[in-house]
Amino acid sequence: MEQYIIKGGTPLVGEVQIGGAKNAALAILAAAIMTDETVTIDNLPDVNDINVLLEAISGIGAMVQRIDRHTVRINGSGIGDFSIEYDYIKKIRASYYLLGALLGKYNKAEVALPGGCNIGSRPIDQHLKGFKALGADVVIEHGKIIAEAEQLRGTHLYFDVVSVGATINVMMAAAMADGLTIMENVAKEPHVVDVANFLNSMGANIKGAGTDIIKIRGVKKLHKAEYSIIPDQIEAGTFMFAAAATKGDVTVMNVIPKHLEATTAKLVEIGCEVEEFDDAVRVVSKGRLNHTQVKTLPYPGFPTDMQPQIGVTLALCNGTSTITESIFENRFKYLDELARMGANIKIEGNSATIEGVEGFSGARVSAPDLRAGAALVIAGLAADGITIVDDIVYIQRGYERFEEKIRSLGGMIEKVASEKDIQKFQFKVG
Ligand code: EPZ
Repeated sequence: MEQYIIKGGTPLVGEVQIGGAKNAALAILAAAIMTDETVTIDNLPDVNDINVLLEAISGIGAMVQRIDRHTVRINGSGIGDFSIEYDYIKKIRASYYLLGALLGKYNKAEVALPGGCNIGSRPIDQHLKGFKALGADVVIEHGKIIAEAEQLRGTHLYFDVVSVGATINVMMAAAMADGLTIMENVAKEPHVVDVANFLNSMGANIKGAGTDIIKIRGVKKLHKAEYSIIPDQIEAGTFMFAAAATKGDVTVMNVIPKHLEATTAKLVEIGCEVEEFDDAVRVVSKGRLNHTQVKTLPYPGFPTDMQPQIGVTLALCNGTSTITESIFENRFKYLDELARMGANIKIEGNSATIEGVEGFSGARVSAPDLRAGAALVIAGLAADGITIVDDIVYIQRGYERFEEKIRSLGGMIEKVASEKDIQKFQFKVG
């Protein structure tokens, strides 16, 4: 099992290139099968979740051609199987985007019902409500969602919960329905907009993505496209908090600063200097930072996917901070690990009270999930001494060459797979 070993205490300094947004890419790859023509997608992050979804897509008969690490060509004309097995869903929940894509294109899809995951129970009732509103018969049998329609028809739909996944999944199906669909109370995340832009580049007619109401005029056919995925605002934000926690000076390159506003605002609030450029943001952290309050909310609120990274940073700030996690119920597990590094934290329900400490001391910790894992790496970089992070397979699901990027900023981190590797690292860093 691979681990990260980190010698902390060195401020991260320099420039780091941010890759394409994983969560946009997952939906865009699924949507790419909705035409029989060839689609080329660029700025794809080379991370495990993407590679598993590409396997699922070729598994149903689509042509998937990897042009290079960040570019893929997909042709969905050969699809002969409308069923996505539990193996894929278990590895990566977002395979459920193939439900909306297949249902939209073929009026039929079967996808294993995803269970909960490490961060929460994650129901998908809103997705199913949307498909039903479009006229599909949706049943759950033997662990599978089976959705079928003679012809999907436009509808007026109000989501009960603001959901990224439901907004995107139903938007895909509605893109090829008969007539006009109006979806209200939708998610406004940048990746929702990116998926809408991608579908429009294939000939769909979607308006309003990025606002509370999306209007979709169904089209009969979609066509070929070439598309470049937006930068990953969560990867960018992770490096911004890494700069803050290590008292560093990091410029995140190839980003859309507008997408980072909630993160930037909190960094400024706690005392960092943040400079915005056209496609870059620089974070400078000097001296002891200050406490604040954070509540996770749908975009443009503070993202749940950045909650562990700010949590680690606040644990090193002056005074008492509070975090309220209002999206997923299980996103505080990293705080127990952080306590092993000396953090002073009390959790009650979905709120955490964090009493800032002067510093962390390195320890062996486990990554409970993707973002929490990245946050524990930040903690290790800020800590005194050696930290070992176990279960980095979670981190590898969503961060491309994470350790290499950190090393390019002066961080001392290595991916190791044996006791010998650990000893070699310890010898090297002294
Ligand atoms: C997406 O998950 C992201 N995943 C998550 O990123 C992210 O944390 C989340 O959005 C919130 O921003 C992908 O894009 C692949 P939701 P998603 O549907 O779509 C409830 C990461 O680390 N809900 O917006 O599953 C749900 O329980 C990950 O990259 C329902 O009740 O999230 C939650 O409380 C992890 N019924 C809230 O809505 C539904 O049918 C928001 O979930 C759907 C959701």
